[in-house]
Amino acid sequence: MIFTRITGTGSYLPGQPVSNQALIALHALDSSDDWISERTGIRARHIAAVGETSSDLAFHACQRALAAAGRSANDVDLIIVATSTPDYIFPSTAALLQKKLGITNGAPAFDVQAVCSGFIYALSVAEKFIRSGSHRCALIVGSEVFSRIMDWSDRGTCVLFGDGAGAVVLEASNSPGVLATALHADGSHADMLSVPGQICGGQVTGDPFLRMDGQAVFKFAVKVLTEVANEVLHAAGLTVDQLDWLIPHQANVRILQSTAKKLGLPSEKCIVTVDHHGNTSAASIPLALDEAVCQGRVQTGQNLLLEGVGGGFTWGAVLLTF
Ligand code: ACO
Repeated sequence: MIFTRITGTGSYLPGQPVSNQALIALHALDSSDDWISERTGIRARHIAAVGETSSDLAFHACQRALAAAGRSANDVDLIIVATSTPDYIFPSTAALLQKKLGITNGAPAFDVQAVCSGFIYALSVAEKFIRSGSHRCALIVGSEVFSRIMDWSDRGTCVLFGDGAGAVVLEASNSPGVLATALHADGSHADMLSVPGQICGGQVTGDPFLRMDGQAVFKFAVKVLTEVANEVLHAAGLTVDQLDWLIPHQANVRILQSTAKKLGLPSEKCIVTVDHHGNTSAASIPLALDEAVCQGRVQTGQNLLLEGVGGGFTWGAVLLTF
């Protein structure tokens, strides 16, 4: 039987952290450090430089993940990038990343678009490729430059997001590995969180900025994150107390705390990085995972529950032994 294991993690944050105070001053926002940190837990985020793209951030994260796995770029036979802020409409960010990494072996490369659940979708897809025996070494990346789709006059959204990338190397293995995955979507909630614009005839039509019903998102997120966590635990025959770490999408510290509480998980077992990354959408889970690995908190053999929710609406979880 073929199992799948994460063999390396890496991440990359552009530039220096931008504090709430600095962001407020930069965009003349009618807000305060107290309001932002009390309502969201966010204290700082990173913002990509002009011209720095998702494939650039992904490149650095992938180099680190490959080094951690002890792999060279041409060992990779599958590349999946989760992003809602691609470099171009096409080609895919994954194809551009393949070129930047110097992967010349013809490995398939494609993007997954599931907004903040994108990394969970990408990891679940790759796990099925590897388990089928068709591929052996996948690069799974979440990379975002959400600063490009912020309306800097909308204080209700622009303080929440940041830029960054995280990556994992997922390989075929004789031992588990990924224990269970679950993916879901409900398109009837498309309007709750969207960037409702398009390019048509050389012009942007509609609205090219992120719009969100914050309170509706909050309630929906806590509900489905709790449900999908229980779903994968049940599928794998594990209980909450057998979990070493919950690594949820980093949207808002109150969402993370409410989810952990509803699951009956001590809050110390929930990895939190939203305070210094902001919400980096598809990048947030692999960024949090890599930080916890680098700090020595996440260790080989531990049970991790990774889960995300985002626009679509989409949501999902991956339960694995690291
Ligand atoms: N600074 C100061 N005041 C603000 C700010 C700000 N940055 N943003 C909004 N306000 C004001 C509002 O204008 C409103 O003022 P009013 O009462 O005069 O009308 C007041 O604060 C309260 O606004 P609410 O929207 O009711 O505030 P709430 O307590 O719901 O907090 C927040 C808003 C933080 C967005 C919250 O709803 C939330 O966290 N929702 C989850 C959304 C989220 O995490 N989205 C991430 C993307 S989705 C995802 O990743 C899954």
